[in-house]
Amino acid sequence: MPPSLENPPFARQLAPPSENPPRRFPSRFAAFLALTAVCWALGAALGAAQDRQDERDKRDKQDKQGDKPTGDWKPRIHFYAGPLWNNDPNGPILLNGVYHLFYQSNPYGDQWGHMSWGQATSRDLIHWRKLPVAIPESGGVAIFSGSVVEDRKNTSGFCGDSPKGCLVAVYTGDSQPNGQERQNQNLAYSRDGGLTWTKYDNNPVLDLSLQNFRDPKVFWHEPSQSWIMAAVLSDQHLVRIFRSPDLKHWKAASTFGPAGATGGVWECPDLMYLDVRDAHGNRLGSHWVLSVNLNPGGVAGGSGNQYFLGQFDGTRFVEDRPGSPTQWADWGKDFYASTSFANIPAQENRLWIAWMGNWQYAGAVPTLPGRGEMTLARRIDLRPVDARNPAGPLVLVQEPVLPQSANFHPSAAVTVDAANSKFGGQEPGDGVYALRATFEPGAAAETGVRLRRSSLKPGEPAAEETVVGIDRAKGQVFVDRARSGLVSFSPDFPTRTAAPLKHPDAKTVTLEIVVDRNSIEVFAEDGETVLTNLIYPSDTSRGIAFYATGTPTGSESARIRNLSLVPIP
Ligand code: FRU
Repeated sequence: MPPSLENPPFARQLAPPSENPPRRFPSRFAAFLALTAVCWALGAALGAAQDRQDERDKRDKQDKQGDKPTGDWKPRIHFYAGPLWNNDPNGPILLNGVYHLFYQSNPYGDQWGHMSWGQATSRDLIHWRKLPVAIPESGGVAIFSGSVVEDRKNTSGFCGDSPKGCLVAVYTGDSQPNGQERQNQNLAYSRDGGLTWTKYDNNPVLDLSLQNFRDPKVFWHEPSQSWIMAAVLSDQHLVRIFRSPDLKHWKAASTFGPAGATGGVWECPDLMYLDVRDAHGNRLGSHWVLSVNLNPGGVAGGSGNQYFLGQFDGTRFVEDRPGSPTQWADWGKDFYASTSFANIPAQENRLWIAWMGNWQYAGAVPTLPGRGEMTLARRIDLRPVDARNPAGPLVLVQEPVLPQSANFHPSAAVTVDAANSKFGGQEPGDGVYALRATFEPGAAAETGVRLRRSSLKPGEPAAEETVVGIDRAKGQVFVDRARSGLVSFSPDFPTRTAAPLKHPDAKTVTLEIVVDRNSIEVFAEDGETVLTNLIYPSDTSRGIAFYATGTPTGSESARIRNLSLVPIP
């Protein structure tokens, strides 16, 4: 078979890491992350022997607590990198009908280190095929996050004869010349549609002699016929915007920030021009959004994502309403380093994907095997918060990309008890399914659904369960994973994350919940309010129970409409 994306050449396999000791997380960068990821930072810093000792200690501790990891948590519909470590998604792009996903990868182990770009491809964004490392760490330069573009006009000069498409990766090189950390922006290109990659000889292409200058997101800006790069000066809470005619020569254009949440370093920015649509999907226009990831200082503690709405003229991003409350893309604990797909045709919805993890405990989570995984890809656009005022504030809307087979059907309203009898207290499929429902809380104080329960009897208490609920008094939707299964590996894990409802006075709240073997993604209010959380339940916990509490006697009870539970094969 000739080399192809399905059959990559062996030349791309990496040399063994014998003379390549695990890299230590560099100085100031480490200082920030160590604050929030003590176990992980220690493991990385002390090297392989220490890692093994830590692993033993952790297991001993879990054993003493009678809290052994027993589940099969391998995600079925989310990308993860097999037995290795992965964090941020990098440079997702659609090329010739195939989605390419690159990601921060340690090709040698299941802790952060030796940062290189791994690669995977998919035709449906659900089933991924892992390829060998695309851009390896080499010469003391680690390959940190960045993006990929297709250089159709050969502006870079890399792309002469490329019938399969020519991709250019723009990534941060992280090195420590003279013991001092240095981050700068670099290029690598592929002339064969993403199969093989060559680092540019004249790297770096953009160097400000800084320790914290990273995560370039690049796109082609048609009106100004330029490449635009947004990158962070992370410790200064700044996004700096650059322009280039050819991806090789960059000029500073403007700076955005500090603004919004600044409780941690800014990372992985994304400047996107998104559709504005009403709740029925009708297109009302387009608007610019600057998304900035933040660690720590996220809304649920640790890593999080905030976004700014504004105008971009090819040079400067100007916020619409400076000083307005921080807008969070996701209120759960495990949504970070989001990045949008390049090359999505203009008439289609933009997509993004994020790392489903949090630096507070990323290095301490049980192995799948391997540590780290991605969220589902999500269609994104903007919607006026108040349908009667389309020119008013906008909210980011996210819709998970699910297999075509996941069909939901409208149905009449039923009581909580009727919903429970219909499903017999048992989750469908192999613990992998989507649930969609419109909850009518009535006079109930709280209503929702308890998932991955250790009991199959909805009326019976369960020692293990994850609760997704609507709290009317607080006007919140929440996910409580305090008793979700294995939680003892970090004090930051057993949490209840909550989001304020955008429409607290509405009589109904829609929830779409996607459950994989070790995660729960909740899309409330038709995608306006999202919570993403990892869980590590026991394999045997397969119960599901709808519930309503605090309904005064004789008053209107909670009901559920359009209830569908669809197993995902
Ligand atoms: C975000 C991040 C990026 C950096 C990469 C290193 O999670 O810290 O800022 O480029 O991870 O792996």
